[in-house]
Amino acid sequence: MTAVPAWVGVIGGGRMGAGIAQVFLAAGAHVAVVEAGGEAAEAARGRLSDGLEETARRGKLAGDVAGVLARLTLLDSAAELDAATELVVEAVPERADLKADVLRAAESAVGPGAVLATNTSSLSVTELAAALERPTRFLGLHFFNPVPASKLVEVVVAAETDPALVGTASGWVRALGKTDVVVKDSPGFASSRLGVLLGLEAIRMLEEGVADAEAIDTAMELGYRHPMGPLRSTDLVGLDVRLAIAEYLHRTLGERFAPPQLLRDKVAAGELGRKTGKGFHTYP
Ligand SMILES: NC(=O)c1ccc[n+]([C@@H]2O[C@H](COP(=O)([O-])OP(=O)(O)OC[C@H]3O[C@@H](n4cnc5c(N)ncnc54)[C@H](O)[C@@H]3O)[C@@H](O)[C@H]2O)c1
Repeated sequence: MTAVPAWVGVIGGGRMGAGIAQVFLAAGAHVAVVEAGGEAAEAARGRLSDGLEETARRGKLAGDVAGVLARLTLLDSAAELDAATELVVEAVPERADLKADVLRAAESAVGPGAVLATNTSSLSVTELAAALERPTRFLGLHFFNPVPASKLVEVVVAAETDPALVGTASGWVRALGKTDVVVKDSPGFASSRLGVLLGLEAIRMLEEGVADAEAIDTAMELGYRHPMGPLRSTDLVGLDVRLAIAEYLHRTLGERFAPPQLLRDKVAAGELGRKTGKGFHTYP
């Protein structure tokens, strides 16, 4: 069975990056997290150590937290990544220019055999590859939030990705105890494309008065055994986040992703879901 790479770099130690670093550390890798400066680095270290403490509390960490954290290094720049790094996962904010910059810096620092990956949730992996000297060594590894608890990673294959890399990356995902699905680079990959479409149709049904939000969610939860109905799930993700993704999918895939007016109205009214206490449902 494939093991995780011994040396991993993670660029960006935010919500996703810290989670990605955490699961590789827990699986035995040495991990270098690149963050933008002092305070951000300390915040990333805090997120990571809290996450590992939680895993340990649930009895799921091999070894003690201090021992695992001894394999963590924090760096100020991707240019400082070690030449021995086998895998670099980029998880900086969702901006193509920023991602291209850090990926280029990482590519120059690591050896020619290293694999570079992006955790982008919506940008084209093929377009990001254009920034690189070795696009054949690049693919998407789309982790889900929260990374330690989520079972899924989409392995996103860009136009120039070496097919041999796909099997290697899938092996690493399985070595993390997660399930890989291999997807061709295309807007929304497999997960968002289907998940967002269901959410948009549920909102259109609400607009048309087919049923109320509770009934629509219950129909999917009990009738189709979805763990969470499409409106509750939109509340969890954030209505603003869903609207941004729908607008992108509308532009790239067509009319069926046109955001319903009700979604726009709720976002304009500041009803963004759980984080504001109100979306399609209300939260105490
Ligand atoms: N949040 C989610 O649910 C989710 C799910 C899947 C994928 N993603 C994707 O993951 C990526 C990161 O999202 P996030 O939610 O973790 O964002 P975040 O804002 O929590 O984290 C981004 C981190 O990158 C750091 N950063 C900024 N510029 C940097 C630089 N030049 N070098 C190093 N670090 C830098 C920031 O300080 C921050 O800690 C995005 O591409 C996002 O689309 C997010």
